[in-house]
Order: sequence, then C-alpha cells, then structure tokens
Amino acid sequence: MATRLLDLLKLDHPIIQAPMAGGATTVELVSEASKAGVLGSLGAAYMSPEQIDAAAADIRARTPRPFAINLFASVPDQPMQGDTGRMLALMARYHEQLGLPAPAAPGPQADPLPGQIEAVLRLRPAVFSFTFGRIPADVLARCRQLGILTIGTATTVREAIALEQDGVDAIVAQGAEAGGHRGTFLEDFEQSLIGTMALTPQVADAVSVPVIASGGIMDGRGIAAALALGADAAQMGTAFLTTDESGISDAYKAVLPASRSEQSRVTRAFSGRPARGISNAFMRDADAIAADILPYPLQNALTRPMRTAGGKAGNINVLSLWAGQAAPLARRESTADLVQRLVRETQAAQARR
Ligand SMILES: Cc1cc2nc3c(=O)[nH]c(=O)nc-3n(C[C@H](O)[C@H](O)[C@H](O)COP(=O)(O)O)c2cc1C
Repeated sequence: MATRLLDLLKLDHPIIQAPMAGGATTVELVSEASKAGVLGSLGAAYMSPEQIDAAAADIRARTPRPFAINLFASVPDQPMQGDTGRMLALMARYHEQLGLPAPAAPGPQADPLPGQIEAVLRLRPAVFSFTFGRIPADVLARCRQLGILTIGTATTVREAIALEQDGVDAIVAQGAEAGGHRGTFLEDFEQSLIGTMALTPQVADAVSVPVIASGGIMDGRGIAAALALGADAAQMGTAFLTTDESGISDAYKAVLPASRSEQSRVTRAFSGRPARGISNAFMRDADAIAADILPYPLQNALTRPMRTAGGKAGNINVLSLWAGQAAPLARRESTADLVQRLVRETQAAQARR
C-alpha cells in the first residue's frame, strides 16, 4: 500500500483521521490515530492561538509521530438577506426550551485566521490542512520553507486545479457524501455536490499532487475503493466520531449507528454554510425558513449558545449532528481497534477478486 503521501509523511497506513472542528478531534483522538500509524488531525478552526499551542504540546507529549493542524480559510462576507426577526423568533423558542436568556443578533465576527496561522507556523506540525477556500500564497510558501506539508480541500476539479496552482502539496477530494461543512469555494455549492466515486478519479487525472479521497468512506472496502480510484489515501471523519477518544457527546455517538442514510441532509441551519448532518428538529425548523438563515459566520455565532447548552444536556434536537451519508456503518470502538480493523478490511478487500 505504499503511496507518495505515505512516503512523505512516514505513515504506516493510507488513512487520515479527518480534522473535525467543534470538539470531536480531542488530543486523545489525534494522538491515538497518529500512534496507530495514520495521520491524526486537529480540527482547530474554532480554537484560539493559545488553545492550538496547548493542544499541539499535549499531542507531542503523547507521541512523536506526525499530525495535522486544520483551519478554515477566510470566506468573503455575505450580505444579510431575509428576515432576521423571524430567525431570532425561532431561536427565542429554542432558548426558552433550554432555559437560556433571549438571543441577540450577533455583531460582526473577527476573522481568527491570521492569529491561527501564526500559531501553525510557530508550531511547525507535519501537516497544515485547510478547507473553505484558498490560503494566501506567502503562507503556503512559508510552510514549504518550514517543512510543513500543505493540504487543501476541493469539491470540484476546478477547485483542485486552483489549489494545485496555489502550490499546495496534496488535495482532499471531498465528495458529496462527506459529513460536516462543504469545502466548496468556487462554484455554487449545489452544483458542487459530486459523489466521491465520480470526483476522486477526475481530480487524480487533473492534478499531479497526491489526492486524498473523502466522503462516505467508513471501512476497508471504502479505503480499497479510494485507492483503486487513484487516491493516495482516504480521509475519514464519521468513522472516527464514534471512537472512545472522540470528544462528541454520548447522545451524538449513539445517534450515528442507529441512523439511516435517508436522514442525512445538507443544511445551512446551524452555521450559515452548507454542511451535511443527520436531520433533527432544529434543522427542520430552520430549513423551513431557509431564506432567513444568516450568512456564515453569523448564523454560527447565533446558534452557538443553543448548541453548547444542547451538548451539555445531551439534547440531540438542537445539536449539529454532522455525519456523512454512510454514518449507519459507524461502530463504537477504540481508535486503535478502528485502525487495526480498517487495515485488515482493506487488505481483505484488495485480495478479493
Ligand atoms: C463532525 C465533523 C466536523 C468536520 N470538521 C471539519 C473541519 O474542521 N475541517 C475540515 O477540513 N473538514 C471537516 N470535516 C469534513 C471532513 O474533513 C471530511 O471531509 C468528512 O468527514 C468525510 O466524510 P465522512 O464523514 O463520511 O468520512 C468535518 C466532518 C465532520 C463529520
């Protein structure tokens, strides 16, 4: 299973534990994944530079193996559309149920990226990965000088070509099945919902840097398929969400294997940016007034108190239950057991004729 990416990163297996901002990718998850011979990734997009420093030190105290730090690229400000009053009225109903004070319309949000990038350049992780768009060329050049490998996220061939031209070292091809936020940045997101099976070989043909398939890959069959399609590795998020070390609540962990693929939706309800998750009461209510959803990151700020309270209470009606379309295949096990199983299953799938 030797691939260019494995050589570059000195990984044992062609697997990346996906970065998942919002608490799932704890230092325990990242370090256990890296110890198991795959690339652990810290989803740091919602972390302050100080929190990133502390998490990286903690991971390094646990393992000398490579890991990635992942951030969200800056996105252009979107104009407010729709009726903010109607969205606030919906939030007020949920706040009341949760015993929270009345919601207020969020003010302008500062872009955390410059400070976060400083932390990455200071910490020099093996990999800096990102989604939501492009990173300035001077930052990518600094990473190269410092020996930090860069990985961008594409949902179309055009995005993959743009990232290669920017100078990234590898590209995640994120299929429509993928859990969490869409990485789309060039085209309309609906037109950029291309399945992993269709996207991966096209991106592999279009660029010369290593390609990492992502979206709906839950077991060794999916990893073998990704490699057969021309990918150097598979990036898996949902499969790692239900591990013992993942930071999501028990209630959320229990939902994933019990769900059906038909419950999976792409929604702007929680953050203002399209993301895939399992449908719940808040998603349905907000999508019913979709035109009134605030642009990212304002909707994200608006729904944060509700999501935080819901997380503490294990209330799955108000949490963003991000997960890929193949979530029903998720299993509760340790990260080490998951990686061992994936390796066995990949070998078995590759041996099958
Ligand atoms: C809970 C969750 C959070 C995510 N957060 C991020 C993130 O912070 N950065 C990122 O690049 N991708 C993020 N993703 C997307 C993953 O990188 C990956 O594309 C996706 O998990 C692949 O689909 P799968 O979940 O079916 O494996 C997230 C995915 C999930 C499920």
